Amino acid sequence: NDDRYIVGIETSCDETAAAIVKNGREIVSNVVASQINSHKRFGGVVPEIASRHHVEQMTIVLEEAFKQADMTWEQIDAVAVTEGPGLVGALLVGVNAAKALAFAKQKPLIGVHHIAGHIYANRFASEFEFPLLALIVSGGHTELVLMKEHGKYEMIGETRDDAAGEAYDKVARMLELPYPGGPQIDKLASKGEASIAFPRAWLGEDSYDFSFSGLKSSVINTIHNTTQRGEDINKEAIAASFQASVVDVLTTKTWKAAQVYHAKQVIVAGGVAANKGLRDALTAKFSGSGIPLLIPPLKLCTDNAAMIAAAGFVNFEQGKRSDWDLNANPSLPL
Ligand code: KG4
Ligand code: ZN
Repeated sequence: NDDRYIVGIETSCDETAAAIVKNGREIVSNVVASQINSHKRFGGVVPEIASRHHVEQMTIVLEEAFKQADMTWEQIDAVAVTEGPGLVGALLVGVNAAKALAFAKQKPLIGVHHIAGHIYANRFASEFEFPLLALIVSGGHTELVLMKEHGKYEMIGETRDDAAGEAYDKVARMLELPYPGGPQIDKLASKGEASIAFPRAWLGEDSYDFSFSGLKSSVINTIHNTTQRGEDINKEAIAASFQASVVDVLTTKTWKAAQVYHAKQVIVAGGVAANKGLRDALTAKFSGSGIPLLIPPLKLCTDNAAMIAAAGFVNFEQGKRSDWDLNANPSLPL
């Protein structure tokens, strides 16, 4: 039997996740325990609380992944785990669980970059075509990555300040919306008019870099000035206008890079890929262009372990293994 089964483990932020993936392309089981409710009242992820929840949930989530797959450890070929980037205390829980299990069950251990995982969340829907352009938009990352082959990543643009998801969460906080703010802004935006002309940071003709801090300041000023005048703030209009600016820059730069680098495929990855406005704008831009656009289903956009197993499968096939001294690396480069 040539089938390969990889166990994936993900604990980089506020989701404790375990999954089993067949041949890097097929989800056998995918279990995610979200901690959102525990962090909500603090308005963001509290690292210490995240680590403790991971410790409590890790074995439960793993057992559930095996149960849903109806599989045993004998059928597993390797253990893949997110080694970074992320919160160090959170990452350590997954890394140590993976090390202990791989050692005890005598399976190869494979450290995976969290963003590689987000990219490979797209491989459940379609085989990759190279050169492939990936737009990564999450709570910690905003990047354009070019891939010419499996497992190799070339950064062609990145954010100079806030990540897209971070900007969403900060603006949501200014509008007094609950955490995580991204989905809340998305919902409000669909009810409002993009009537406020917020700035777009192009950063020069040929730049694929991003910046969202100017936009954020502009939103703060608008809220401040409106309140000073004693007027009510139109949350829907602010959300719609903010989203229009973010989506315009992301879509335009992705489109341009796809042309310049002759992309055969464009994929979108990370939590902000769940954004309705972004999905619609990219779909409209690429439809009829001859360049296929892949966006994962909502459930695979946000953090999960199936994507980690899928990325780990590539390392496994390429003979890449981690040593027993594998450590959590909060700022691991892609
Ligand atoms: O990839 P992810 O689950 O975690 C990281 O690796 O960062 O991304 C989480 C981010 C959060 O900032 C969240 O607000 C944002 O993704 N997000 C959204 C949407 N859903 C999640 N942002 C905009 N619109 C959404 N629908
Ligand atoms: Zn993520």
